[in-house]
Amino acid sequence: MNESGTKVVLSGVQPTGDLHIGNYLGAIKKFVKIQSEFDCFFCVVDLHAITVFQDPKVLKKNTLEVAATYLASGIDPNKNIIFNQSSVPCHAELAWILNCVCRVGWLNRMTQFKDKAGKDKENASTGLYIYPNLMAADILIYKATHVPVGSDQKQHLELTRDIAQKFNNDFGCEDFFPLPEPMIDNEISRIMSLKDASKKMSKSEPSDFSRIILTDTADQIRAKIKKAKTADVPMPDTDQEVTKLKEVSNLINIYSSLSDTPRDKIINLYQGKNFSDFKNDLTDILIKNITPIGNEMGKLMNDQSYLVEILKQGSLKAYEKAKKTINEVYDIVGLIR
Ligand code: TRP
Repeated sequence: MNESGTKVVLSGVQPTGDLHIGNYLGAIKKFVKIQSEFDCFFCVVDLHAITVFQDPKVLKKNTLEVAATYLASGIDPNKNIIFNQSSVPCHAELAWILNCVCRVGWLNRMTQFKDKAGKDKENASTGLYIYPNLMAADILIYKATHVPVGSDQKQHLELTRDIAQKFNNDFGCEDFFPLPEPMIDNEISRIMSLKDASKKMSKSEPSDFSRIILTDTADQIRAKIKKAKTADVPMPDTDQEVTKLKEVSNLINIYSSLSDTPRDKIINLYQGKNFSDFKNDLTDILIKNITPIGNEMGKLMNDQSYLVEILKQGSLKAYEKAKKTINEVYDIVGLIR
């Protein structure tokens, strides 16, 4: 709870192109579900995207596309705040202050930096290194209490709590920043590659057949599921056995999340059969749930001035809240403005 007793939710999606069903099921579908219960901020984190070089024209298009995805998925811009990070300068201002609170040792433990920087760490941008401090700023600038994220972001959220706690202690302002809670429902939200279920579904994997993107047509979805890896044995009859077949287990998770059907019910339905019926039904479920979103995104992308206006209005509303926190922070830290 924040000081006025309401729960405040913030989450962010990076505009790096081609959002896929992993992004949808892991984050955006959850946003849609919780939007009526909480005060929600849904941010397009463009400043995070540029920690890795982005073509400027493509960045603009991708930013609008994330906004279009939020809207097409059913987030109501009148009840929630949809905006892009860079147009509320308080995020970057607070991030600088948090850079001075966070310890080098804390950042050195971040596994996402290690993954993203790869072997050539010396050549990664310094922005990529301090990326988690900007994420902490996104959350703390609105004194958010709950953050819906995929399980891969749990470590960043723990860091945010550590930073908030240290700020509150260092400046003797107990409870100034609430310690935000992750909202991670379960492992089902982690959708893996259709080609190799030991890897997360990702837009950076070379093969298009590893993922289903939200703008895929029915034919593309059909072809991708047809090619998706399963197993050489029929569908087992227990969840324990299915879990060992990683690719099958992943497809069941997709089926389960999209149709809100428990895994064991799906396993019962197809046990002992080969995978063709299962794949046909999964294809139908994907087409039914995903292509309407893709179609709506296409329509919205044809009216870019509308999307720009949505972001502008959202940014103005977000700025009103953020301004209050940054003024308090400047005062607490001893900065004159
Ligand atoms: N780091 C998140 C990701 O890659 C994106 C993000 C940026 C975010 N700021 C955030 C998520 C604030 C939740 C809250 O998915």
